[in-house]
Amino acid sequence: MKILGSERIIYDNFKEEFQKPFQNFKFSRKYFYSSGRGAIKNVAYFLKKNGYKIFFPDYYCVEMLKPLKEENVKIEFYKILPDFKADLKFLKKVKKEKIALYIVDYFGFQDENLIKSSKESGILTVRDITHSFLSNFDFSSSDIVLGSLRKLFPVVDGGILFTNLKNFEMIKKNCKEDFYIKKLFSKLYREICENYKYKSDHFENLYLYYSIKGEESIGYTPKNISKFSLNLLKIYDFENASTKRKNNFNYLLLDPYISKKAIFKSLPKDVVPQSFPIKIKCRDIVKRELQKYKIFLPILWRGENEISKKILNIPIDEEYSKKDLSTVVDKIKKVSGEKDEC
Ligand SMILES: Cc1ncc(COP(=O)(O)O)c(C=O)c1O
Repeated sequence: MKILGSERIIYDNFKEEFQKPFQNFKFSRKYFYSSGRGAIKNVAYFLKKNGYKIFFPDYYCVEMLKPLKEENVKIEFYKILPDFKADLKFLKKVKKEKIALYIVDYFGFQDENLIKSSKESGILTVRDITHSFLSNFDFSSSDIVLGSLRKLFPVVDGGILFTNLKNFEMIKKNCKEDFYIKKLFSKLYREICENYKYKSDHFENLYLYYSIKGEESIGYTPKNISKFSLNLLKIYDFENASTKRKNNFNYLLLDPYISKKAIFKSLPKDVVPQSFPIKIKCRDIVKRELQKYKIFLPILWRGENEISKKILNIPIDEEYSKKDLSTVVDKIKKVSGEKDEC
């Protein structure tokens, strides 16, 4: 029987069905996971079982590789060039049989040549839409489309996978209903520290503690997304978030200093960007200096590829105003020096 009275609950019982952009993905199967790596791990099972080896881009986050390595999927790398397009030479030596290709839509943009060429070569494609979920692309040419939902959207946990493959076996483990609670705690403590301006090392330490513990509980064993995050996604205003992201990107492009350093010098109509990547000399020093102003610009990612040493990402999520972005730009200029020629 339903409990009546007692403590009031957090109301997350939202009834709406998924709106755009979920409807943009025209696949017969859609699976939710607790993380993007959960979806990758499920793909790793599939590749292993069917004897595939995978070509992976050499600009990546190490966490993405773990599930594939754990399943002993054979990995070969292909080169990502400084404009974030693939060097297509590797496709010539790729034979059709039992080869999969992992494609990442970096920062929300797509590499049309890579997508077209991979389609022509008939290999199995796995497209990572973690950054491009909101972009208006035709994803249908890929065999498997997957991503993390936690990079673009303010959810506690979440990953997704779409496919039409009839022999794709969905594997998810059961888990405790409250596996996401520590991550939720960390977000609440951050809220207390930042939005309510409650300055206390105690809360900041709790935020950091629960953040690490929360990640551990979300993990990457394939399991279901929490009902809490699913409900948040049902009410999230994707339209508004997309418009804000595009406006923020275009606002940054207006600054000649930033525009000169931009990897992408214009914003195509169909792209909803994840962030604004710039190429900057002495990147690690600049990043460190910015922290003194409480500006924490992410690095996506540290890796073997030469470009990874120079890329810094300016966040353009919907909660940032033009004023916030101007502050970031001013501080970047201040710490990197107007003469940075990178
Ligand atoms: C492009 C990309 N794909 C997948 C993942 C994995 O996502 P999650 O952290 O939700 O497991 C990440 C994050 O590391 C990522 O950056």
